[in-house]
Amino acid sequence: MKFFIDTANLKEIQEAHDLGVLDGVTTNPSLMAKEGISGHDNVMAHYKAICDIVDGDISAEVIAVDYEGIIREGEALAELHNNIVVKVPMIKDGVKAIKYFSDKGIRTNCTLIFSAGQALLAAKAGASYVSPFVGRLDDVGTDGLQLIQQIVQIYDNYGFQTEVLAASVRHVMHLLQCAEIGADVVTCPLNVITSLLNHPLTDSGLAKFLADHKKVNI
Ligand code: G3P
Repeated sequence: MKFFIDTANLKEIQEAHDLGVLDGVTTNPSLMAKEGISGHDNVMAHYKAICDIVDGDISAEVIAVDYEGIIREGEALAELHNNIVVKVPMIKDGVKAIKYFSDKGIRTNCTLIFSAGQALLAAKAGASYVSPFVGRLDDVGTDGLQLIQQIVQIYDNYGFQTEVLAASVRHVMHLLQCAEIGADVVTCPLNVITSLLNHPLTDSGLAKFLADHKKVNI
C-alpha cells in the first residue's frame, strides 16, 4: 500500500519524506488556502516546490468546473512536472475531461468520490486514481470503509487499472482497515502516519533495555 500525505504544508511534506516511507502527496484547494497560497504563479511555484521534495505522484487540483477550463488548467499543471497527477472533481465535465486526459497520457485523480457508481464511471473514463472520502462519509453516518471495499471489489472483478486512493483518512484505524481491504493508496495528515510509530510497550521495553545496559556499562 502506498502512503501519500494529504497536505500542502512543505514542512510536513519534508518530515514525512525524511521518514522514508512517503510515496506521494495529495493537495486540494482547501489545503492550498490553508497554507495561504494564492495567485496562479504562487500556486504553480508551490507545486514545483512539492515536486522538488517528493519523487512520487503529486495530485494538483483544477479549480475550473467546465470542460474547457478543466482541460486548460490540467494541461498547464501536467506540464509543470512528470509527477503531477491532475485532480479533477467527479462532475460531468470532469468525467469528460478525464477521458480526454487519459487519451493524451495525462494522469488523473478523480476526487470527491462518494459512491461506487461514481468510482465505476471514473475508472471507465480512464482515471489513474479515484479518491473516495472515507471520513466525510463517516461524518454523515455512512460507512466510508464499506465504500472502499465495494470499489476494490468492483475494480478487481473487471481488472480496472485505476488505483483506489482512500482519502479523508483521519486516524490509524481508517488507515489499517484500508490496508486490510486492499486499498492501493491512503492519503492522510502527517500525524496519522507518525501515530503508526507509537506503542506504550515499545516505550517501556526500550526504557528497560537501556536501563539494563546502563547497569553493567558505567
Ligand atoms: O484528500 C481529501 C481530504 O483532504 C479531505 O479530508 O479530513 O477534510 O475530510 P477531510
